[in-house]
Amino acid sequence: MYFGAFQVAISSLRPTLSGLAKLYENNLFLSTLYEFLNVPKSVPDPLHPMAVPRPWRSGLRVENLSFHYPGTDRPILHDIVMTIRPGEIVALVGRNGSGKTTLTKLLCRLYDPDTGQITIDGTDLRNFKIEDLRGEISVVYQDFGRYHMTARENIMLGRPDIAPDDPSIVQAAQWAGIHDYLIRLPKGYDTVMSRTFADGEELSIGQWQKLALARAFVRDSQLILLDEPTSSFDATAEFEFFEKFREMARGRSALIISHRFSTVRLADRIYVLDAGHLIEQGNHEELLALDGVYADLYRQQASYYQDESQSVNNNNIPALSTAFSK
Ligand SMILES: Nc1ncnc2c1ncn2[C@@H]1O[C@H](COP(=O)(O)OP(=O)(O)OP(=O)(O)O)[C@@H](O)[C@H]1O
Ligand SMILES: [Mg+2]
Repeated sequence: MYFGAFQVAISSLRPTLSGLAKLYENNLFLSTLYEFLNVPKSVPDPLHPMAVPRPWRSGLRVENLSFHYPGTDRPILHDIVMTIRPGEIVALVGRNGSGKTTLTKLLCRLYDPDTGQITIDGTDLRNFKIEDLRGEISVVYQDFGRYHMTARENIMLGRPDIAPDDPSIVQAAQWAGIHDYLIRLPKGYDTVMSRTFADGEELSIGQWQKLALARAFVRDSQLILLDEPTSSFDATAEFEFFEKFREMARGRSALIISHRFSTVRLADRIYVLDAGHLIEQGNHEELLALDGVYADLYRQQASYYQDESQSVNNNNIPALSTAFSK
């Protein structure tokens, strides 16, 4: 009888004990989440926030801005002055490490400048609630996120409040040039973007980049920040993207960072950064006439293509094909 009672007690205790073990295990995972949620903000919200203007009237201005990253003493940006008016497409060019991405981080207020300020319609960004300010900005960074979720969810992350069948999702995918690919997948927009899952699909880097752009375009924002948005696009996709871009961005301001001058020359105004200093500004023709760093970088890239076309004219292609047939 005692043995029987012991057996019954053990078997009824077993689920409780395994439940406790599971609770402990899950708590370990949750502690990482709570640690993340407790990370202090690097920039403070204002005590008396002002509403972000809608629509912007005079636009965004960067005024005598200087900046160095916290924990380092190397200045990254020096005395930057820049204007992005509503509806304007502005390009930012410069060599690697010149501070282009850093400037976009300051525009989103991931950091505050050391000196100077950034204003929207004359009001310092520090006067807006951070959430409201970022709600007005769509950004695609160089190291954009790749989420192992469905294509629809990947796009919706840009605007989680919309319904899964909201037409703006398809519209954003069309702008980004990924719609035609997605509808041809067996599960269409509901295909998981990873081969880790059954029926999942693996995207190429250029396709991931298009999905990241769709995530940015689905947002109803007034400023679009694109950090090398088409670096992995093929030539046709890039041409189609920028052909549609002005129509898509209509009324919104855009700041595009690119090393490709085919993209840059389409901008209304181009700023040239060199080692954290703004050294030239103007449109493509003005900067070529100035014959400075921009003209130099442009000619370097153009000469590459010219050399290629010359070699075509020199009938090198038949020689190459004979080499392959041999
Ligand atoms: N989080 C960081 N902490 C400290 N220094 C940083 C950080 N991020 C960038 N830097 C430094 O700031 C400088 C400018 O970097 P940034 O990423 O703005 O350059 P970039 O112009 O965007 O270059 P690229 O064309 O390669 O993208 C670099 O010298 C880099 O070392
Ligand atoms: Mg960069």
